[in-house]
Amino acid sequence: MSNLKGKHIILGISGGIAAYKSVMLLRLLVKKGAEVQVVITPNGKEFITPVTLSSLSGKPVVSEFFTANTGEWHSHVDLGIWADLMIVAPATASTIGKMANGIADNMLITTYLSAKEQVMVAPAMDLDMWRHPSTQRNIETLRRDGVIIVEPEAGELASGLIGKGRMEEPEKIAEAAERYFSRQEELHGKKVLVTAGPTFENIDPVRFIGNYSSGKMGFAIAEEFAERGADVVLIAGPVNVPLRAEGIRRIDVTSAREMRDACVSHFNDMDYVVLAAAVADYAPAEVSDVKIKREGTDGMTLHLVKNPDIAATLGALKKNQKLIGFALETDHELENALHKLKKKNLDWIVLNSLRDPDAGFMKDTNKVTVVGASGEVIDFPAKQKSEVAKDIIDVVVNGETE
Ligand code: C5P
Repeated sequence: MSNLKGKHIILGISGGIAAYKSVMLLRLLVKKGAEVQVVITPNGKEFITPVTLSSLSGKPVVSEFFTANTGEWHSHVDLGIWADLMIVAPATASTIGKMANGIADNMLITTYLSAKEQVMVAPAMDLDMWRHPSTQRNIETLRRDGVIIVEPEAGELASGLIGKGRMEEPEKIAEAAERYFSRQEELHGKKVLVTAGPTFENIDPVRFIGNYSSGKMGFAIAEEFAERGADVVLIAGPVNVPLRAEGIRRIDVTSAREMRDACVSHFNDMDYVVLAAAVADYAPAEVSDVKIKREGTDGMTLHLVKNPDIAATLGALKKNQKLIGFALETDHELENALHKLKKKNLDWIVLNSLRDPDAGFMKDTNKVTVVGASGEVIDFPAKQKSEVAKDIIDVVVNGETE
């Protein structure tokens, strides 16, 4: 039985020749048990009639903001709340551009902006339009906004030209929807703790010791766990990155000690704990209540004391939790990472080398090697941090790569 049974799906249709394939997609989704509400753009109606679509979906097609003769208002907000998934197929270059930039001049876009759950887009256009930097920029924006892109195929296009831009086949789009829902159930009921970002150790009310960690890697891991259905607690140091996924409980902390306390108090009932934070190793022994003055001194000495090692603390408390740490090494990488894994009683350690131009702080990409307590060493190429998060979670959950 398909996992689309009983799911509420909005099928957004924009004005491309591939709209005829949306009829097949609609039939497939309905056959697999989904309840489908069609939202079509004014241009879409030039390609396919609402009568066909409403007959197949069993629901009136939504296109205008209100029905002209009765004045009945169509609520895109209610639709957005109702839906478990929104699929825009075909998505023309124009609709993709409007989605990426929030140009809400039709019912499809207002519905998109109100959609609370996942949105999936199946682009369809001519090869030059697909290749155009503006389309590619908009696609990238949608990806960053969390939209799943069902990539177009290469093949013969309506224009007679041959190239990439043809909308993916309805069967493949329906499979992508099924994949999304099964992924969402993968870690249902699992509890996950993630630390991210730097810690700031105060010197006085205006100064601190910190580091360049952006929090991007830890945030991507928390988001990926949440997308697979886990309950996530994210303990974040001072960072400035947006958090995407729903279902994440975020606790903001500043210092290593605060981070340690938050971690320890949540550790007991966790299944997976990923320590991606760059915790300061030392903190000033005393924090001045007033701003330290410069006058009268040629230099100053800060007396530092060692911070708690959160990973080692949790490693000593560990029962059934899987504990995953990170290591950033400049030399003897594998050897040092393995040593840390043993010393802190970790199950896995994710090694990223500062020597690699695609790895590390502030960047959107990372290149990691995941090392296991049983001697596994799995190398990955450089990827976007969101993709790296998927690889890491695949390894620690399944013990293997896909
Ligand atoms: O020992 P090192 O700092 O290289 O270890 C890195 C790993 O240990 C990371 O997972 C980091 O989050 C964690 N760590 C910690 N508490 C510290 C220092 C590092 O939990 N005080």
